[in-house]
Amino acid sequence: MTRSGKVSVIGAGFYGSTTAQRLAEYDIFDTVALVDIIEGKPQGIALDINQSRPVEGFETKLVGSNDYAVTEGSDIVVITAGLPRKPGMSRMDLLETNAQIVRDVTEKVVAASPEAVIIVVSNPLDEMTALASLASGFPKNRVMGQAGMLDTARFTNNVAEELGVPVGSVTTLTLGSHGDTMVPVPSACSVDGKPLADLLPAEKIEELVTRTRNGGAEVVALLKTGSAYYAPSAAAARMARAVREDSGAVMPVCAWVDGEYGIDGVYLGVEAEIGAGGVKKVVERDLTDSELAALKEAAEAVRAKQADVADM
Ligand code: APR
Repeated sequence: MTRSGKVSVIGAGFYGSTTAQRLAEYDIFDTVALVDIIEGKPQGIALDINQSRPVEGFETKLVGSNDYAVTEGSDIVVITAGLPRKPGMSRMDLLETNAQIVRDVTEKVVAASPEAVIIVVSNPLDEMTALASLASGFPKNRVMGQAGMLDTARFTNNVAEELGVPVGSVTTLTLGSHGDTMVPVPSACSVDGKPLADLLPAEKIEELVTRTRNGGAEVVALLKTGSAYYAPSAAAARMARAVREDSGAVMPVCAWVDGEYGIDGVYLGVEAEIGAGGVKKVVERDLTDSELAALKEAAEAVRAKQADVADM
């Protein structure tokens, strides 16, 4: 694919800078623009990544700034601005602070790039995605959040470690919220095509599900300052890549659900086809009765929280 287009990353912290690096190393964009409120931070990271280009062999150019002018005309914008968790905090504890940041950032993003696809990663994810959607005034398909691919990657890693098999042989899935009402979907999990339920006892699968649900907190507890960013940035960058390449890849993302699974009007973790223009289609799969009930429960939990952020 020829190199073209601009992707912007707002927030040059751990999540933003690793996302910018991954996007640049794909070598499919002309420009990766990086913006942060801290003077020198996006500029310094952009310079540092640009200096890695001769070694890694990519031409995509990083531009860092405190001014949204560098983001003008972006095809895709990844919003990572906001505080991360500290040990013991839930993602919900970030709600008010990050709502202010995400609203402000979204307004500036939209003014500079009225045609962009927005990918939100700031936490609490489902609420911040709904807020960015409201603040942008964009069609719902052009605003989505990153969580499902990360949670699914964590689930896959947990299963692969448990069974001592390559991650590439494992398929897993999580839907629902990026939080307490995450819905791991054991019926969609397999290893080399064999159902996970045939390979592990139910209690062991439940243990892996619990570890997946707490996957972010496990990293936060170990790091003590800040939250995860390697796996999160890998997931966000893949979403941006699918948009850029118009691949139609089906991935679990936080998307606007309106009618699918019998759920009305809410941002929720589901599988969707991702391509130019963002979410092309929410993909429904057969769920067991208990998985569907859990997904509906998650929808109602995030619906209530998303209503709260409308006024923030
Ligand atoms: N505009 C631009 N950047 C901002 C703004 C703003 N209004 N407010 C804060 N930032 C920047 C900070 O200056 C900082 O550089 O956002 C960056 C956040 O970086 P980190 O503290 O390293 O946090 P990070 O690990 O990158 O997580 C960012 O992603 O996973 C979520 O929960 C996490 O909400 C958090 C977000």
